Order: sequence, then structure tokens, then C-alpha cells
Amino acid sequence: MSQSKPRVLVTREVFDETLDYLRQHCEVVDNQRDVPYAPEALGKALADCDGLMCALTDKVDPALLAAAPKLKSVANIAVGYNNIDVPACTARGVMATNTPGVLDDSTADLAWTLMLGTARRITEVERRIRNGEWTGWQLKQWLGVDVHHATLGIVGMGRIGQAIARRAFGFEMKVIYHNRKPIAPELERKCNAAYVSFDELLAQSDFIVLQVPYSPQTHHLIGTAQLAKMKRSAILINSTRGGVVDDAALIDVLKKGGIRGAGLDVYENEPKLNPEFLKLDNVVLAPHVGSSTEATRKAMAMLAAQNLVAALQGKLPPNLINPEARR
Ligand code: GLV
Repeated sequence: MSQSKPRVLVTREVFDETLDYLRQHCEVVDNQRDVPYAPEALGKALADCDGLMCALTDKVDPALLAAAPKLKSVANIAVGYNNIDVPACTARGVMATNTPGVLDDSTADLAWTLMLGTARRITEVERRIRNGEWTGWQLKQWLGVDVHHATLGIVGMGRIGQAIARRAFGFEMKVIYHNRKPIAPELERKCNAAYVSFDELLAQSDFIVLQVPYSPQTHHLIGTAQLAKMKRSAILINSTRGGVVDDAALIDVLKKGGIRGAGLDVYENEPKLNPEFLKLDNVVLAPHVGSSTEATRKAMAMLAAQNLVAALQGKLPPNLINPEARR
């Protein structure tokens, strides 16, 4: 008698190819209408599921896990996994996985898009064209600042931070970084980057890019005190997670001209970002699209599916976050 396939729930719309792959190995409950589950409904839908493929919009907490007694694995379609209570998963023997690696370059590209866009005020000047404010060329019109030959400070020098640093080579920038600990000397050489203290980075950088994962330790890593240590000409880029920056403090400083500008892809309380951001001209705002190219999102969804299938087949998932959960 053939064994029945494991049952998995996919909480958000994914690509057809992802579903086709999952269906080869699992019985799949999909959500191609992409209506996000409320927490209680998610618990109900998971009651008889062995696997969950979820996104950063889904909270995997003890209450959800308690509602899903058969659950063996949770596959996040993201590299960041602050939406998942990993110790709670481990305690229940639930393997949690993420999608590192496949999104490094696309996310680094987006950080650079925000750097260049903020430096050259690109969304502001486009708004001015659309508003009919462009009446002709002027020498001192909407002046920006140079990215080339400036100092780039990267906070968080993992794979994405390193990809951001490598891109600085063509712009002949000085690259400094801060990390929990310095990266290996050969990686420093490849990135042409020098390790400095957090305070040195805040004081010396023309562009500061945040690329640390969100955790209780990095909550409000940038607040009033840190913003005060930056140059008045500095531009802050947050391409990692909302909550790493104290948004209210940032808005206050941007209003007062305490720093030059900010390029943001992530916010506290997404998608309801602080409405004060919308009133500022010295910000470039993107809606959490760091990894959002077709090729990268397809690769992320497929990697999440492969992680889930491996876990449910009793194999070692390629990106297991909590090996202690494997029983
Ligand atoms: C996106 O934000 C991710 O963590 O992959």
C-alpha cells in the first residue's frame, strides 16, 4: 500500500512551478488568491498539516504551534526569520528553514538603488516633473551629493553586506564596516573593507547601510543617540528589517536636517508605515522589495519548497536553522 503524502499549507501566493514541485511530494493546500491568513484562521488551517510554507507576514509563535500538533517543519520564504519563534519550534521538534544565499545580489542591488536614489533625490525630482514644476534647466537645481569617492559604512557584514561592499569598488568608495566580529581577512580584502567600531562608523560614513538581522539585540540599533553621531550630510539606508531603526527618531532628525536623507525599504509596523515619512522630501521609500526580482523570488520560493520537502522526507533540509529540532 502506498503511503499517503504529507499535507502542507502554503500561506501566500507562490509561482506555479513552486506548487508543481510541492505537489509531486505533498498534498498541498495553496492560497493563490493571496488573502493573508488571520492568526486564528492559520491555526485552524494547520490543524492537520505536516508542513508549513510561510512568509514574513505570518507569525509562527507558540499559539500557532499549539494549534498544529502534527507540524514537523516550517519553511520561511525569506532569509530573515524574525517572524518565527525558533526556540518554540525547537521545543516542539519543528524544523525551521529560511532561504539564504539566493537573494544576496538582488538585495544588495536594492540597497544601492536606495543609495543612489537618495543621493540624487530621484523620487523627489520625479515628483516635481509630474507636478509640472520643471520649467527649465538651472545650474543650482535640485543638487544632490556624490556617491563616488564617498565613505560607505556597512553595519552587518554577512553575505548581503559583503555584496553591497563589493559593488562599491566601481564607485571608488572607501568602505568601512561594523559587525559582531571582523570577517576573515581574505573576505575583507575581497570587499576592500576595514573594520571599525560602531561609533567610528557612525561618525565617519557619508552613507550608512544597515544589513543586520532584526532581533531583540538590534531593536532600535539606530535611534536618537546614534543619529546624533552621524554627519549632518550623511544618508542612512535601511534595507534589512523594520525595527532596526527607531522610525519616529529618524523622522524627527530628518525634519530638523540632522542628517541629509534616508533610503528605506523596511519600516516599523509594515505596511502601515509612519505617515510622517510621506511628508518628507529627503526620503526615498520602497515597499519591502529588497529581493523582489522575478528570478530571485522564484529561487526563494523553490528553495523554501525544497527545504520543506526534504524535512518531511526525513532528510536534512539545506537551510535548517535549528538542527536541534531534528529528531
Ligand atoms: C526579506 O526581507 C527576507 O528576509 O528575505
